[in-house]
Formats: sequence, structure tokens, C-alpha cells
Amino acid sequence: MNFKKALSLICIGTAGATLAFAQTKRPAVNTDEAKMNAFVSQLMAKMTVDEKIGQLNLVTGGEATTGSVVSTDVESKIAKGQIGGIFSLTTPQRIRKAQEIAVTKSRLKIPMIFGQDVIHGYKTSFPIPLALAASWDLDLIQRTARVAATEATADGLNWAYSPMVDIVRDARWGRVAESSGEDEYLGSQIARVMVKGLQGDLKGNNTMMACVKHFALYGAAESGRDYNTTDMSLDRMYNVYLKPYKAAIDAGAGSAMVSFNDINGTPATANKWLLTDVLRKQWGFKGFVVSDYTGVSELIEHGLGDLQQVSALALKAGTDMDMVSEGYLKTLKTSLQQGKVTIADINNACRLVLEAKYKLGLFQDPYKYCSEERAKTEIMTPANMKFSRDAASQTFVLLKNANKTLPLKKAGNIAVIGPLGNTGANMPGTWAVNADLATTPSLLEGLKAVAGNKANITYSMGSNLTADATLQKNGTMFGREIPRDDRPEAEVIEDAVKAAKKADVVIAALGEGSEMSGESSSRTDIGIPDVQKRLLEALLKTGKPVVLVLFTGRPLTIKWESENVPAILNVWFGGSQAAYAIADVLFGDVNPSGKLPITFPQNVGQVPIYYSHKNTGRPLAKNGWFTKFRSDYLDVSNDPQYPFGFGLSYTTFSYSDVKLSSATLRPGSTITATVTVTNTGSMEGKETVQLYTRDLVGSTTRPVMELKGFKKVSLKPGESKQVSFNISEEDLKFYNAQLKYVAEPGDFKVFVGPNSADVKESKFTLLSK
Ligand code: NOJ
Repeated sequence: MNFKKALSLICIGTAGATLAFAQTKRPAVNTDEAKMNAFVSQLMAKMTVDEKIGQLNLVTGGEATTGSVVSTDVESKIAKGQIGGIFSLTTPQRIRKAQEIAVTKSRLKIPMIFGQDVIHGYKTSFPIPLALAASWDLDLIQRTARVAATEATADGLNWAYSPMVDIVRDARWGRVAESSGEDEYLGSQIARVMVKGLQGDLKGNNTMMACVKHFALYGAAESGRDYNTTDMSLDRMYNVYLKPYKAAIDAGAGSAMVSFNDINGTPATANKWLLTDVLRKQWGFKGFVVSDYTGVSELIEHGLGDLQQVSALALKAGTDMDMVSEGYLKTLKTSLQQGKVTIADINNACRLVLEAKYKLGLFQDPYKYCSEERAKTEIMTPANMKFSRDAASQTFVLLKNANKTLPLKKAGNIAVIGPLGNTGANMPGTWAVNADLATTPSLLEGLKAVAGNKANITYSMGSNLTADATLQKNGTMFGREIPRDDRPEAEVIEDAVKAAKKADVVIAALGEGSEMSGESSSRTDIGIPDVQKRLLEALLKTGKPVVLVLFTGRPLTIKWESENVPAILNVWFGGSQAAYAIADVLFGDVNPSGKLPITFPQNVGQVPIYYSHKNTGRPLAKNGWFTKFRSDYLDVSNDPQYPFGFGLSYTTFSYSDVKLSSATLRPGSTITATVTVTNTGSMEGKETVQLYTRDLVGSTTRPVMELKGFKKVSLKPGESKQVSFNISEEDLKFYNAQLKYVAEPGDFKVFVGPNSADVKESKFTLLSK
């Protein structure tokens, strides 16, 4: 096709611009933006209302250009200009074919945008986001996003439904696996680097547009039940939950995806306050907003009206693009004729979608991302796979290591036991939609490859994933199925016990199937499934040393395991090369350094549990147990099983007291908190040093601790390093009752340590001037 001709067609004249459109034209702030404005204005001047509405329609490709879940006639719709973008269509060939229809057959030849859930890697899969957060390594996380974008764009895509930045404090919610955990500071840092990693400067053909999601507060779904209602104070919203979204927007995220949930009585998709007042007016967001899957038509079930009514509500609220519902396509024109939406509403949304395409360079070259050569050479490269292995090994959290059970020797008899010990497909984790599950090595394969031939490694399944076959089926879908052994449970366990008795050490590969967390995977019992626990008990009774290799997409309740199993390595779901990475850590080639980005509760009744809670008027004394009329439980202490920031190493670290450069902080200056960290063990290791503060007196109540900084340092045995953090007035700011972002003069505590529960403290005063 002659694309230059198509482009010139698009660029001719502005004569048809409507008055409403002229009103929506924004002033240009720089030359690039001025050029974009002019280009988009000229194009929109030629568009019919139908074509404008078409730009707001996002359909799923279902890996075909003909036929999809909702839209039955994708090809002819593209030709009619009724589709603005497609998601879940991959490969340069297929995407080129679809794009060709748009830029040769549609009247104005407007290219489409192609999106997908590129979340923790692409074909080279990286650890799940919760695991990546456990690395506390921003550079590493940014590099995973860069590789993901490189691979995804090599496969034709240009729009990633990532980063997911929902704060999560309720481990029942399965989507905690996709998050960076409970903390707004860590979450905001990660949001920022994810956007940078995906988007770069958005110029090259290996960068893609980020879509920060799910805006907003999705992670606070009541009862941890997916898609459920959120009801939240402005204090919590502004000081905690909204912060990572804002960080992603500030980092330049080009688009945002609306969350499914109801927020204080108005579902996000129809929430004008959220999408227009907060996102656009308060934060100055200039990108476009897409609904989540059928989010627009789901407003009908929320009880806001019929398809026409809810589509108008969503558009007017600020949802620019309608994913899958086709409510916009079917009803907006009628709504316009009936005065339920204005042409300005449609123009605004259309302009934003076209601008995104402009920023991606699609008007210059609609096939910019369709390189078969790149698809052949840039996906799942040895370098990417090696990086995936290295990255995974940085995310594992050593929760317990009694008697130096770990690291293991690459020798002797090792029994790998458990339903997760010999399944490769389960390793990449929930959003590894493009991972090559069939070639992903299992833990058993990884251990054999890394141990070499001095070790004799055997495998026995020992138990099913869950006793209930239906639960197992639901927890291992999408090609991650794990075979079942239908013999009586005792027989299956007996086989494993026999294998354990012959071994020097047992590696128990237990936990969740990868689809037991993620979307639509909430659980009320967040323990290791009972049948696996019975297996574990039997293994422990053999008296052999047992290492629990814990697979999970959420904090699990592992009190009993923590009290009874000598060593626990939490490995989450570690991506394409997780098997080798786990072996690297188990055999001590890599010293574990991950730290929990989320609190592990003792039991599910403590949920939601998080370190930065408020003090209450009746706090329980530190390390206290039940005390009548204090804020506590009769049956369990307030302490978590493992606190936020926790993680062991094969070596040990000691911390000096915290030294402050001054006892007072003046606005406009900084003070420095310094500790000396020493490697007191015999192995080189990495330690993430964490800085927290507490505002002792505020105009509103303030959390007992807030993370304000962290630094990961590497130390040789015996080596000491000084680790310093600058603290400025900016770091002490919060949204007060009037939603003003202020730092209030007064006394602050500062804490430094290896995790949120084990810190050294000091004190300073913020002066008023
Ligand atoms: C629904 C999910 O909530 C969202 O995270 C995802 O991006 C879309 N589906 C598209 O797959």
C-alpha cells in the first residue's frame, strides 16, 4: 500500500473542524506538542462522528483478525473505521495484516494501536511483579521492563497493560501477585522505573506505551474478593493508595486503565471525580484512559443503567477508550443525537487516542513494530534468558535457615518431593501469557542441571496440589495443569516418605499453583493446601533435613511450617528460568537477598495487616500479648509471621546505631542518617538497608512507620560499609485534612534496619524555618 499517499490524505486541510472541536483544542506547550496538535486537529477535521467513535473502540484480537470474543466481524469493522485498537493479537505478520486493513481500506487510513498484558516479561518471562518487588532493586526491575518491551515490540506490539501499581494489604486478593505489595513508597519507585523501562523515550521501535493500572484503589477490594467494592477515606487514598499511580503518571505513562471496582459509591469507570478531577485536573495527566475489559458494560451490573446510559456516563467521566464492551460503538452516536453526550466529549477522547498513536510514531510508519527480522532475533535470546535467571535469583526470600541447612552441597542423595517439583509450566506465574510453558524447565530439571553428576536427585510427587480436584483444576488453568495421582492419599505420601528416607536432604516443593493467585483467584484460606501440609508433616517425621521451597503468588499463612521446617526459601513464581535460579540459590552459587515487599500474617484473621498502620488510641505495647481493652486479639498476637522488609541471607549482617548529622532539620536543607553495616558471616552477600520515619505529632494521625528510602549494598565477609540517607522536608510531607501536601514542623523518629520490625532509631526535629 502507498502509505505516503494515505498520510497526505490525512494531512489535507482543517476546513471541517467543528466549533466544539475547536473548543477542545489545547494550547501547545512545545514544538513537538504543537506539531502533534496541528496534525491531530487536521485529521479530526476530516473525521465523521462515526469515525471518531470508532477510534474509541478497542477489541480483542483473540489471536485472529477474524472473529473475537465480542466483536464478530473485526476485519470489516477495521475497514469501516470502527476499531481504534486491538489487544491480544501478536506476531508481526498478524499485526501487519490487521494494520494493513486499517491503513489501506479504512477511509482515513488511521493506524491502530496494538496492546497486550506485557507484565512480567514477554516470551522471556521474569518473576511475577510481587517477586520483582522483593528484589528491592530498581535498576533490575527497570531492565526487566526494558527486555519485556524489546521482545513485545519485536512481536508487533506497541502498548503494554503495565505497570499494575495497586497497593495490596489483603493477601486474600489473588491479584496481589501482580502488585508490588503493601507499601506506597516502594510501589511508587517501582511504578516509576517500570514506566521508564517500557517507554524509554517512546521513539525507537523497541519502546512501547505503558498503561498504568488499575486506576484506582482496586487493591483494596473488600474481603479480598476480586472486583469487589472499595470504600476508602481521602486520608488513606491520598497518602497511600493513589501515590503509585501518581508516580507512574509523573514518570510519563502514556495511558491509564480504569479499575473494575466501585469507589465510594461510583464505579471507577464512571467516576468523574477520579478520572477527571484527580487524574487530569489535579495531576495533569495528558494521556488517554482505557476501560478494563468490559468495564463499561459492567456498569449495567453495577446498577447504573442500560448500555446507552452507562456508555455515556463512562465517556463523560473520562474513560476515553472502551475495551471489549463496544458500548461506545453501539450507543454514543444515539447519545449524541439525544444530547446525552456532546461532540466535545467525543472529540476529547478521540483526540487523546490519536495523540497516543502519534506519539508512538504510527502515523509516520504504521508498521514501525512489524519486523519479522526482529521477531526472529530479539525474542528469548540467550542474553534475555540469562538475565531472567539472574533476575529471578534476586527475588527469592530466605525466610528461615536453622542449623545452616542451606546452602546444599552438590553431592549425595537429594529427594525432590511435592506436586510443584516437576512442573515447568507452573514456574512462570500468572501473567506469563506469552511464555513458552512447554520448554520451561521444572525445579527437578533445574536442580539436576546445576548440581552436576555428583548428586543423585530423585523425584516423588507426594501429594496432589489440593485434595479437591476441582480446586486444583481452577488453580492450574491455561496450560499450567499439574497431573493428579488418584490413589489413596496415604499411598501417595508413603511413596514420598520412602524416597525421603533414602535421601540426605529433602527439597519439598510446595505451595500454590500459579493460577491460585492472579486475577479472579481470591482465597479465604491462604495456607499451603492441607493435603500438602500432611505430606510435609510426614516428610519431617523421617528426621531428614527438609528444605521447603515455597511457590506462591501471595503472602501465605505458614506459622506451623515456620515453627517446624528447618529451612524455607520463598520463590514466588520466578519466570522462564526460575528452575535454574532456585538451584543457584539452593546450592549457594547465589546468596539470597530478597526482602518481603508485603507482610506475611500469622493467620488469615489478621488480614489486612501492614507495617505502616496507625497507632490507635489504645496501642498494644511493643511485643505485647493480649491485654484487656487494648487494640489486639484474644487468640493471636498483633505481630506478623514475617514483617515487611524481612529476608535472610546465607551470611549475617550487623548494624551500628543510627547517626544523624543534626538533631534539627531546616526546610530547604537536609540531614543525613548514617549506619555502618558489617558482613559478620563467611559469605559475600547483599543487604537492603531500609530507612523509615515516624511523624510523632500531626494535625491528622500518622502511621507508626513509613518507608522513606532503601539501599542495596554488597558486602564481602568481614567488610563494613557506611550507608547514608539524606532526609529533607519533602520526604516528610503528607496530605493533611484539607488535602494539602505539607510537612508539619515537630519531632520525628528515624529508623534504620534490615526490616520494618528490627530497626535502630534516632530522633530529630523539623523546624518551621
Ligand atoms: C482484565 C484485567 O483486569 C487487566 O489487568 C488486563 O489488562 C485486561 N483484562 C486485559 O487483558
